Amino acid sequence: MKLNIAVLPGDGIGPEIMPQAIHVLDAIAKKFGHEFVYHEAICGAHAIDVCGDPFPDDTFKTCMDADAVLFAAVGDPRFDNDPTLKVRPETGLLAMRKKLGLFANVRPVATFDCLLHMSPLKESIIKGADFMVIRELTGGMYFGEKYQDNDRAYDTDVYSRPEIERILKVAFETAQRRNHHLTVVDKANVLASSRLWRQIAKEMEPQYPDVQTDYMFIDNCSMRVLTDPRFFDVIVTENTFGDILTDETSAITGSMGLQPSASLGDHTPLFEPVHGSWPQAAGKNLANPLAQILSAAMMLEHFGLKAEGALIREACNESLLQNIRTPEIQVEGGNHYGTTEVGQWITNYVASH
Ligand SMILES: NC(=O)c1ccc[n+]([C@@H]2O[C@H](COP(=O)([O-])OP(=O)(O)OC[C@H]3O[C@@H](n4cnc5c(N)ncnc54)[C@H](O)[C@@H]3O)[C@@H](O)[C@H]2O)c1
Repeated sequence: MKLNIAVLPGDGIGPEIMPQAIHVLDAIAKKFGHEFVYHEAICGAHAIDVCGDPFPDDTFKTCMDADAVLFAAVGDPRFDNDPTLKVRPETGLLAMRKKLGLFANVRPVATFDCLLHMSPLKESIIKGADFMVIRELTGGMYFGEKYQDNDRAYDTDVYSRPEIERILKVAFETAQRRNHHLTVVDKANVLASSRLWRQIAKEMEPQYPDVQTDYMFIDNCSMRVLTDPRFFDVIVTENTFGDILTDETSAITGSMGLQPSASLGDHTPLFEPVHGSWPQAAGKNLANPLAQILSAAMMLEHFGLKAEGALIREACNESLLQNIRTPEIQVEGGNHYGTTEVGQWITNYVASH
């Protein structure tokens, strides 16, 4: 298969973790006889420095022309610490999601057996947890009307019926492919936007009789994912709740550096780690490249390349089992491997298996 891949390393640790995913993809291409063509483009703080725009038109065009986008992360403390700035790396992120129509962010949450003991949560609670959070990505408060002056500010949590229906469709269908259990997460006891979500979900329920659908308030859900994560199969929720919930669920997996995600929608699909640009670690060869590498695996699986995705997953699992790990998940007294060493090990594994 030939795939044109737009490659967006972004900021912070992005330029360090992205090459590791590319090396792994190259090894896959060689082994399975595929052709992966990479088209690198700028975004985030780096793009602001170059041309004043965090998601320039050239980058947008590169993404639109590609079969898939492999993205790392954007963000820079220069912008984080100045709330008055109008142009910020994250505005580029939102523009990218909006322009590519990426309305569904799909985030798998699963445990690695050999890391269970490293979670701050009890092994007996998280062992076997395996669920999917589907977060709406282009609506709600992040995109609704905003206002701010010195004394007053607001963000508007606005959703339309078509926006809700299309994400719920993705969620119901995902549940059908998994264990037929969908939890719709909202705050329908307080928020009008949530009440519309719940109303539409209830209208759609009869179309999916093989899916057991339940409803949960976000406050309850943020407790249940930590106290009873095996309850869940597929969670669907709006943009802001999903943003917070998915960072929380990284405690189940063990590290932010292990969680990949896919963003799907109207145009080119995008694959990215859940984590941000971790600027404090930039240039230090500390960042875990697994989330980026596993995002590449999700990308291949999206195009039906199941064996290729499975081999990458096996290589990642094996690196963890053999303690080839970056410092944040290394066992006491174990060797510290850097971003490049872990990436190289996984690439070699793929090439030789
Ligand atoms: N999708 C994105 O591009 C995205 C997402 C979240 C945050 N951000 C941006 O990233 C910057 C930093 O934000 P933050 O500190 O809140 O979140 P972050 O995800 O960058 O880092 C939070 C913590 O997670 C851990 N972590 C993250 N990536 C890791 C990796 N690969 N390996 C090991 N550990 C890892 C580190 O302990 C780090 O301190 C900000 O500018 C923020 O706006 C971007």
